Amino acid sequence: MLFEGLELVSALATLAACLVSVTLLLAVSQQLWQLRWAATRDKSCKLPIPKGSMGFPLIGETGHWLLQVFSKIFSHEALESYLPKIQLVIQDTLRAWSSQPEAINVYQEAQRLTFRMAVRVLLGFSIPEEDLGHLFEVYQQFVDNVFSLPVDLPFSGYRRGIQARQILQKGLEKAIREKLQCTQGKDYSDALDILIESSKEHGKEMTMQELKDGTLELIFAAYATTASASTSLIMQLLKHPAVLEKLREELRAQGLLHGGGCPCEGTLRLDTLSGLHYLDCVIKEVMRLFTPISGGYRTVLQTFELDGFQIPKGWSVMYSIRDTHDTAPVFKDVNVFDPDRFSQARSEDKDGRFHYLPFGGGVRTCLGKHLAKLFLKVLAVELASTSRFELATRTFPGITLVPVLHPVDGLSVKFFGLDSNQNEILPETEAMLSATV
Ligand code: HEM
Repeated sequence: MLFEGLELVSALATLAACLVSVTLLLAVSQQLWQLRWAATRDKSCKLPIPKGSMGFPLIGETGHWLLQVFSKIFSHEALESYLPKIQLVIQDTLRAWSSQPEAINVYQEAQRLTFRMAVRVLLGFSIPEEDLGHLFEVYQQFVDNVFSLPVDLPFSGYRRGIQARQILQKGLEKAIREKLQCTQGKDYSDALDILIESSKEHGKEMTMQELKDGTLELIFAAYATTASASTSLIMQLLKHPAVLEKLREELRAQGLLHGGGCPCEGTLRLDTLSGLHYLDCVIKEVMRLFTPISGGYRTVLQTFELDGFQIPKGWSVMYSIRDTHDTAPVFKDVNVFDPDRFSQARSEDKDGRFHYLPFGGGVRTCLGKHLAKLFLKVLAVELASTSRFELATRTFPGITLVPVLHPVDGLSVKFFGLDSNQNEILPETEAMLSATV
């Protein structure tokens, strides 16, 4: 059960308190941010500054910029070309996890994994391993301070966030320059190549600042959400060994588990993955019960009616993904982890468009949702075929919802690599096999 050991009332109160505090913090910081920009107005000039939003502190409107340039980055062809690289990054990471004699903090390492996926696969940067580690630490400092009040005082979260962004932008600029100079020997186009190419096609050469903003935004959108979902996936496979076994059966039936061995790099294809129906159900169920993001914010452009009340133009409203999943009448036993609810026979989500929305909905739906699902599927396939893993603590950790859903203090798990006969590989051998991607 999701809220095992907790009284329902106290869980709901915690949830409400979290949502209210995050909403308030966001609203206050955005208002202060607007004021900050309004204060930059040139008072000697009578003209008003343009209308519009300044976005959020630190990241401003980079999301909108990214939107304008790009959905090619997540096209079918692009995903097909990322797939072998994603598989390689995941294989390499699982090998490193298995080579550790100690347990792994899964949430922390999943963050490192998604950061590495974004930097190496999406952006195609070949940053040395040590520098990547440093960039990751700085990136965490940036993310930890994104939702801080925009008050620029020494030691404030805002100042720390700005400093982290400056260091990041310097590192990104170096990586972008190196990448632009060294285009030979590449066997696929990454998201950054596509961004640059498509802007050229539209007759607009991108500036270095735009490239840096775009890359930062891509990492920002991909990182915490995918790490949260990856951790929830591992936790549910640990909690439900029967689900893991059923997944292995499906892989075996599709010829992807040759005597227990893994599908090697490059063997996974998009159509192979889309033929794995049970895997699809598992990922959908993880995303239903453990949706990383609580909801989204909108500004009402036109007054509308909801349940007999008017919602006036200009109001800021929040839609809650988690509440929707918890209360949608189409789902039976909502708190039970049951991937088969998405099977063809039951298809509980088939009635109605708005009961299941882990990636949001409407025109602002998540642009990276296919990439995120692809990543989670490859992770599940690799875990099922090449690893044995067990909880390293006596009980499962509780769950916190802020800033994204994740286990309190991470999730401590010991990983063991499996060879093609499903025998455990010694950690020393794994360490030798572990290659840098
Ligand atoms: C499991 C992983 C992910 C989850 C649960 C998730 C969820 C979401 C949600 C709920 C939204 C809509 C927020 C709103 O309504 O305002 C969103 C927006 C977005 N996501 Fe994701 N996301 C994930 C992974 C990714 C990845 C991997 C990328 C790209 C690399 C990405 C790129 C974006 C972008 C660019 C937007 C903004 C779209 C817009 O404003 O129109 N996401 N995501």
